[in-house]
Amino acid sequence: MNHLLFRRIYPLAAFWLAASGLRAQDTIKVGEVASLTGKEATFGQSSHEGTLLAIETLNAAGGVLGKKLELLTEDNQTKAGESATAARKLISRDKVVALLGEVASGRSLEMAPVAQAAKIPMVSPASTNPKVTETGSYIFRVCFIDPFQGTVMAKFAAERGWKRVATLTSISSAYSVGLGNYFKATFTTAGGVIPAEQKYAEGDKDFHAQLTAIKAAGADAVFVPGYYTEAALICKQARELGLNVPCFGGDGWESQTLLEIGGTAVEGVYYSTHYASGDPAPVVQNFVKAFKARWNGETPDAMAALGYDSAMVLADAITRAGTTDGAKLRAALAATKDYPGVTGKTSIDAQRNATKAAAIFTVKDGKFVFVESIAP
Ligand code: PHE
Repeated sequence: MNHLLFRRIYPLAAFWLAASGLRAQDTIKVGEVASLTGKEATFGQSSHEGTLLAIETLNAAGGVLGKKLELLTEDNQTKAGESATAARKLISRDKVVALLGEVASGRSLEMAPVAQAAKIPMVSPASTNPKVTETGSYIFRVCFIDPFQGTVMAKFAAERGWKRVATLTSISSAYSVGLGNYFKATFTTAGGVIPAEQKYAEGDKDFHAQLTAIKAAGADAVFVPGYYTEAALICKQARELGLNVPCFGGDGWESQTLLEIGGTAVEGVYYSTHYASGDPAPVVQNFVKAFKARWNGETPDAMAALGYDSAMVLADAITRAGTTDGAKLRAALAATKDYPGVTGKTSIDAQRNATKAAAIFTVKDGKFVFVESIAP
């Protein structure tokens, strides 16, 4: 071989060999943004445990497209502003092919524009505010949305015979404001009355003023579309003030911490959520068994189930796309139809949302007890 030609080709060949060797070993990187610490830590921890179980299960079965999946998780500490930074890091530093997260709508709304701008698909496991997926064509969710959840709880209230339902909404949470409004719309259209509309902000600890106003207005029940930390304190302080009407909420109430902080004050409350671990369907029971085996006997809650489903739906889309290219993966996610998830059959609609049943729970003897399932 011509000496000069060899010198030109050899480095290229050596580079190609090294690169393909590398490629054979590399992984498909998936980013996750979660509140592993801070005020809503149980949301992030649960969804992370479900997500990681899905990734490990997929890898044990050989991975996806012949590669192992690698989950890179960033903790936003439940802090406002952190989720966008985390998403940026995962996309530009780690080169993830997709993002999973967040649970809370407000934090999903922070990271969604970053994913959309980078054309990296994002799948929120549990954010229910409609605006999350309205951010753009790359943003998906595997759960129902709050217009449905608000309607479910409005009908539930009406069925209980509650005619006057006061609301206590967190003005600093997109989720809380949205769910409060959707509840009000359905409840008042059906003839219900909202005698008081009180507000609070995330992190507040004293709700006596709002609850005193609610007591004075005369309510059959109080709807608190917020997260568990504040919801538990609200239930406690309501009882302290002698406001002994039922309190109820949405999926943001689902946490063991609600029971720990709320104690006897949360007996008899109701909330809606995405799944019931006692559902006898084999897909649910197999998941519960695998989750308990992986996580110290812990029973998976809705966030865990949705985290699991978000990773499984993503993996299914990568397989169908045959590539991790952002645009093709986006198209495959959009085409998701009847994926047999733990939280129900997942089909992605034209707005990139899923339609699923809601489960209603109550608290009895310090435990969450399933009441009923409401079909979409
Ligand atoms: N739906 C809530 C939100 O959008 C988050 C959540 C989902 C909380 C599931 C608990 C369980 O902010």
